[in-house]
Amino acid sequence: MEEKTKFTTTDTKGDSVFVEKQDSSKKPVWYSEDSDIYVDLTESPNFQVKPAGAVSLAWLHFRKELDGLVRSIGQSLGWIERDEWTPPDCYGFRLDNDRVLEMQKQRESEQSGRVSTNKLSRWIYDVLCSFIDFAYKDRPIERFWFLETVARMPYFSYISVLHLYETLGWWRNGELLKIHFAEEYNEFHHLLIMESLGGSRKWLDRFLAEHAAVFYYWVLVLFFFLSPSLAYNFSELIEAHAVDTYTEFLRANEDLLKQLPPPKIAESYYLADNLYMFDEFQNHAPGTRRPPCDSLYDVFCNIRDDEMEHVKTMRACQSYSKLGKIVLSPHAKLEAEKNIKIDEQKRKYWKQWAQRISVQNSNKKNS
Ligand SMILES: [Fe+2]
Ligand SMILES: [Fe+2]
Repeated sequence: MEEKTKFTTTDTKGDSVFVEKQDSSKKPVWYSEDSDIYVDLTESPNFQVKPAGAVSLAWLHFRKELDGLVRSIGQSLGWIERDEWTPPDCYGFRLDNDRVLEMQKQRESEQSGRVSTNKLSRWIYDVLCSFIDFAYKDRPIERFWFLETVARMPYFSYISVLHLYETLGWWRNGELLKIHFAEEYNEFHHLLIMESLGGSRKWLDRFLAEHAAVFYYWVLVLFFFLSPSLAYNFSELIEAHAVDTYTEFLRANEDLLKQLPPPKIAESYYLADNLYMFDEFQNHAPGTRRPPCDSLYDVFCNIRDDEMEHVKTMRACQSYSKLGKIVLSPHAKLEAEKNIKIDEQKRKYWKQWAQRISVQNSNKKNS
């Protein structure tokens, strides 16, 4: 039987709680209110440095990454001790690749969950999933951080191409730009949450994700150039996979996740006073989806549900590009519904006025 190591953290009310962590090590780790178990994003150079030219930012990044590379090599050679009591290793989260695959098969066995796609897209998707399964085996947080880094790229690609079309005067749709920006902003916050859980701690993961993201950006630009529905379809595949992965992660780590508090970045995103941007990528009326954010479990449920919203939006975008069924953001839809009501009211008044005039005219004729 596996030994259990207890470590404490702060719960949502600020009290100390015990969290049971499955691990073979006997070393107890104590977290208190003073030692936040999450990575403080404000300490990252990315947040502390003022906007600067590409050369100075690249130089700064190079120095930071060189330091990370040296540390990584040192740890691989055993010269530098690995600290497994830092996020994300200290949480002991689990994710079984086979169970994710089962989840995917189960979804695809139902008509409503299946993503119909062409063979090439499916092949690329399968290769990508196999690579992620291999590279991030038993490292779910790093896997999510990689996925969120890459998953933002399609929306940025779509915005770039839509801007280009607009600049060239080929085509214009401000609504699509707004929806894709809200989607990208949502994925950005998923990424920040994974960063606060330590998903970007390792040099190799950063190296892989950053380069894969730039490559993926251009692939999606090319897809969108060829056919927007092809690009949207591929994104639907990826977003549906994200739903499967987060669902399985929630199932496998439910008890532990429920005992951990939400990272600050998650609270500031999901519990903000103004959730205009959050509403803009939903498939609901504005203000109707206000998920709780009381624990890390809630945070992952919210992320999974966000991914589901992306799946629906990608489907709607495909219908738009294939059938011309226009896509509107929730606020624009609300505005359009209001205008329809105003128009109906106007028509009603106009009919009443026309009837009154015709009665007056007929009375005049009779008299
Ligand atoms: Fe995401
Ligand atoms: Fe996503």
